[in-house]
Amino acid sequence: MNEQPLVLGIESSCDETGVAVVRGHDLLSNVVSSSLDEHVRYGGVVPEVASRAHLEAMVPAVDRAVREAGVALRDLDAIAVTAGPGLASALMVGVGAAKALAVTLGTPLYGVNHLDAHIAVDVLEHGPLPEPTIALLVSGGHTSLALVRDITSDVSLLGETLDDAAGEAFDKIARLLGLPYPGGPMIDRAAADGDPTSLTWPRGLAHARGGHRPYDFSFSGLKSAVARWVRERRDAGLDVPVADVAASVQEAIADVLTSRAVQACRDLGVAHLQVGGGVAANSRVRALAEQRCATAGIELRVPRRGLCTDNGAMVAALGSELVRKGRPASDLWLGTDPSRPIGEVHVVPAPRETVDA
Ligand code: KG4
Ligand code: ZN
Repeated sequence: MNEQPLVLGIESSCDETGVAVVRGHDLLSNVVSSSLDEHVRYGGVVPEVASRAHLEAMVPAVDRAVREAGVALRDLDAIAVTAGPGLASALMVGVGAAKALAVTLGTPLYGVNHLDAHIAVDVLEHGPLPEPTIALLVSGGHTSLALVRDITSDVSLLGETLDDAAGEAFDKIARLLGLPYPGGPMIDRAAADGDPTSLTWPRGLAHARGGHRPYDFSFSGLKSAVARWVRERRDAGLDVPVADVAASVQEAIADVLTSRAVQACRDLGVAHLQVGGGVAANSRVRALAEQRCATAGIELRVPRRGLCTDNGAMVAALGSELVRKGRPASDLWLGTDPSRPIGEVHVVPAPRETVDA
């Protein structure tokens, strides 16, 4: 078994073209080229604009990642690429590039799940993931709680958002406040000058009701409540206290996320919580998770901020774990799946009918 595989990871599911090289659990290079600036004026990511930017950035990013890692492409043990979930046309650029490299170099190709990669990236910082671990995955497109028995083969969904993702809620509420896209980091910054107790917002699905799992989330009620409140203030000719709204909204989101994650650990008797995805970069989410895990005796693992948002290192990290565990490579028929579920950690080769000559 190769314990220290040299793996190139390619990420292109949204607006970041990420390419990175890892050896085992060591990150050798991590190149991220973002098309974020091109989306700001639209208030969200435009798939066609993102795909074109991936096309332009991909080859230079691969070149740079390999150069900065001090390795040659022919030395790679595997190439890993995000095969979903994500924007269909954006995913295709990364998968196309990965296939071209794999064919040319004769290197095994692993199509991996973006969500599981957000969890796996933590091995680069804190070593092997304890088994089992509960993962709270919070990004712009997803808010999920999962039980991870083995990050290469056994990840099961415990609950997820029924409507908006936590990052989406941050982004939409920031827009209501007149803050630019992406709103999460803007709210984080504005909240530093606000009072988190100045306003109270609904905590979606705080009490178990029928019709949803105990670990599901909902953020659309929060967004509507903020929209209504802001509109009423403006209609009455009053100022909107941006810092206070930011701080109290951030508190509400951090409260729901961390309380439900800690509850899942308690209920299932799991002593480890991993938090990943772009929203894991949020300062209040990090602080409250730390505080609540310490009280509950749970070991918390959160990667550094730069590894929480989308990057190639997370893809390479999951690829490296798959190689280390001897999992089968995907084949060149590998496709993309914009809504790949968290339980499908990597794309296993499909059995194909042989055609007799
Ligand atoms: O994981 P990610 O980079 O991309 C997706 O896979 O979606 O997450 C992006 C999301 C955006 O909604 C962004 O606003 C949010 O993560 N985000 C934050 C912070 N940094 C990024 N949300 C709150 N506070 C932050 N500091
Ligand atoms: Zn992501």
